[in-house]
Amino acid sequence: MRNKLVAGNWKMFGSRAMTRSLVAGLAAEFADGAPCEIAVCPPFPYLAEACRGAEETPVTVGAQDVSDQDEGAFTGQVSGAMLAEIGCRYAIVGHSERRSLNGEGDALVAAKFIAAQRHGLTPILCVGESLEEREAERTEEVVGRQVRAVLAAAGIEAFGRAVIAYEPIWAIGTGRTASPEQAQAVHAFIRGLLRAENANIADLIKVLYGGSVKSANAAEIFAMPDVDGGLVGGASLEVEGFASICRA
Ligand code: 13P
Repeated sequence: MRNKLVAGNWKMFGSRAMTRSLVAGLAAEFADGAPCEIAVCPPFPYLAEACRGAEETPVTVGAQDVSDQDEGAFTGQVSGAMLAEIGCRYAIVGHSERRSLNGEGDALVAAKFIAAQRHGLTPILCVGESLEEREAERTEEVVGRQVRAVLAAAGIEAFGRAVIAYEPIWAIGTGRTASPEQAQAVHAFIRGLLRAENANIADLIKVLYGGSVKSANAAEIFAMPDVDGGLVGGASLEVEGFASICRA
């Protein structure tokens, strides 16, 4: 049985004060034990604050990105070693906003996935199709390509220390979620891809759903057999809402 994980991707929202109060709020909410694993992924300047606040609480911390490089003349980039040193546990790689707005392709995403693991971080690999791709019935082709690119570069064993997040682009920030059945179908497809390589790893890996997850829809999506929790954007910016998604 896989434990569920609910991770909050704050994107470029928040402040230092909000980081402090959100982490403290979640810690207080789940002081007697959390119903699932809970992670917060604030912007880089607030990671250290979040890590300090999360110490000895059920809350863990992740970064929204990580460099594929370890050290050097890479202005603006942050290495996995730096993130691990301050106490981060996760790094999101391949978020659709970075793929589309920052031009990150499958090869770079795979390199970031490998770099995260090199420094002991667990990558949260995001995959997902656009509305146009879904309507053209290309979802499996696109998601399959995104997963296989990392599989080819990192090897199946690496997926034993990774999380995958299925985030259909048309559901991100739109208020339009995938139906539980749509999510389940893609999650099962992803797990099936991995099962062809290693059944044990396929059974153990967490596959999260992301895209307009709210307290009102989390329970029905998380109830699907291949959905192991969520990667939550907007609804992770406020303690009550995020805590109720964690309880779902
Ligand atoms: P929303 O929950 O705001 O739709 O964002 C989803 C997402 O992109 C999380 O990474």
